[in-house]
Parts: sequence; C-alpha cells; structure tokens
Amino acid sequence: MKLASELARNILDRVTTDEQLPDPALGRRAGDSVAIRSRLPLMFRSASLIELATRVHDKRLMAAAVSWRWGAGNVLLLGPTRIGKSTAAAMLFRATLGRAVRDGGRDWDLADSMRWFGAEELSLARREHPMGRGEAPEVVEACSARLLVLDDAGWDRDPAAVSAVLAARYERGWPTVITSGRTREQLSAHYGAAVVRRMAEAGGQNPVIVDCFGGAPVLAEEPGR
Ligand SMILES: Nc1ncnc2c1ncn2[C@@H]1O[C@H](COP(=O)(O)OP(=O)(O)O)[C@@H](O)[C@H]1O
Ligand SMILES: [Mg+2]
Repeated sequence: MKLASELARNILDRVTTDEQLPDPALGRRAGDSVAIRSRLPLMFRSASLIELATRVHDKRLMAAAVSWRWGAGNVLLLGPTRIGKSTAAAMLFRATLGRAVRDGGRDWDLADSMRWFGAEELSLARREHPMGRGEAPEVVEACSARLLVLDDAGWDRDPAAVSAVLAARYERGWPTVITSGRTREQLSAHYGAAVVRRMAEAGGQNPVIVDCFGGAPVLAEEPGR
C-alpha cells in the first residue's frame, strides 16, 4: 500500500510540476487573441497560415507579409483582383498576432489594438453616423489602431473617411497595410496625390510597395522543384 501511495504522490508531483510549467500569461494571451483575430473577415480567421499562403499568387506579396515587423513602415499592395493582396495582408496580421501571443511584452500591447477595415466600410460608417455625435466609432478605431489593414482602397464611394484616417495615422507615424485593385494613378485620381503619398510614406522609414500591375506575377517555386 505504501508503495502505491508513494507512486501516486510521485505521479501527482510530476503532474502538478508539468501543469505549472507553461506560462499562465501565455494561455491568457492565446485566449484573448481570439477576439483580435475575429476582427479579420471570416475567410481569414480559421484557415492556417500555410493554407492562406497557397492563396497568395505572387511571391512579392508573400515576402511583404512575412517580413513585416513592428517598427517597419506602411505596406502598399497593388495588383489585379484575386492575386492574393487581401490574403497577404491577413497573413501579415495573423503572423504579427501569433508572435505577440508567443512573446508578450510590448508586441502584445501593440497587437491588442490591431484592426482591419475595408475602405468602403469606413466610408459607410462615417455616412451612417449621426451628425453632431462626433466621429464614427469605426473611424476612431481605424485612427487609433497601432497597425491598421485598410482593405480595397479606391472603391470607397466617399474617399473622405479614408483620407481622414490616413492623415491621422500619418501624424502619429503609425503603420497601415493598404491593399488596392487600382493603380497608383487611379488612386491619385480618387483620393488626391497627397493622400497617396501618405499611403507610401507614413508609418516609418521604409515603406514596402508591391505593385503587381503590368507584367506577369512573380510565382513562388513549386514545392519539390
Ligand atoms: N474561402 C476561400 N477558400 C479558398 N480559396 C479562396 C477563398 N477565398 C478566396 N480564395 C482564393 O484566394 C485567392 C486570393 O484572394 P484575395 O486575397 O481575395 O485576392 P485579392 O485581394 O488580390 O483580390 C484567390 O485566387 C481566390 O481564388
Ligand atoms: Mg482583396
């Protein structure tokens, strides 16, 4: 009997030690990250990063997504529809969030306020917000996110909302990842040249501009070749 209870205590000791090994803050961050991830459009929430990677059809988009780190500047992803611009932006968001969960500290504090908005969503939010009640909450969130993904710029019916958000973010030096199916010239016609300059300049020293218009996409090597 003594032997059995000693064995049980040994096992129990080991289990409790194992239970205590993981950092409880890591578990908390992982739990909280679900709410941050749910700010992404549905199709980017549950697919794995590997799965998402198969939907990015130009390796320059992929490189921009995986190399971005806090301290880097804006990312401007331009190109024809379905090439994988939004997916690359979602990968950037998810990878940044994943590292923040793993590492905690300042990365986690920054990741906590990351947001994703469609350009038209901001324009609609502003239009539907009652006059005299300040700014629409979506616009406020887009301005105060430490990293914003602004998806599908250039198709918003009223460019004023996006222009205001980019101006506020420029002032703060906070980075924005912008995707657009329009060329820089078309974006300039839509928002004005100053706004497009902000897209390419704000948020840090070295913006990354991936322009997939004109010329064939740069394909990733096929696996196994
Ligand atoms: N739910 C999905 N499941 C699998 N593939 C998808 C899904 N949604 C879109 N795709 C594929 O992902 C690719 C990239 O789409 P997307 O990132 O939206 O391109 P873009 O933003 O450049 O228009 C497309 O070629 C499309 O076929
Ligand atoms: Mg898109």
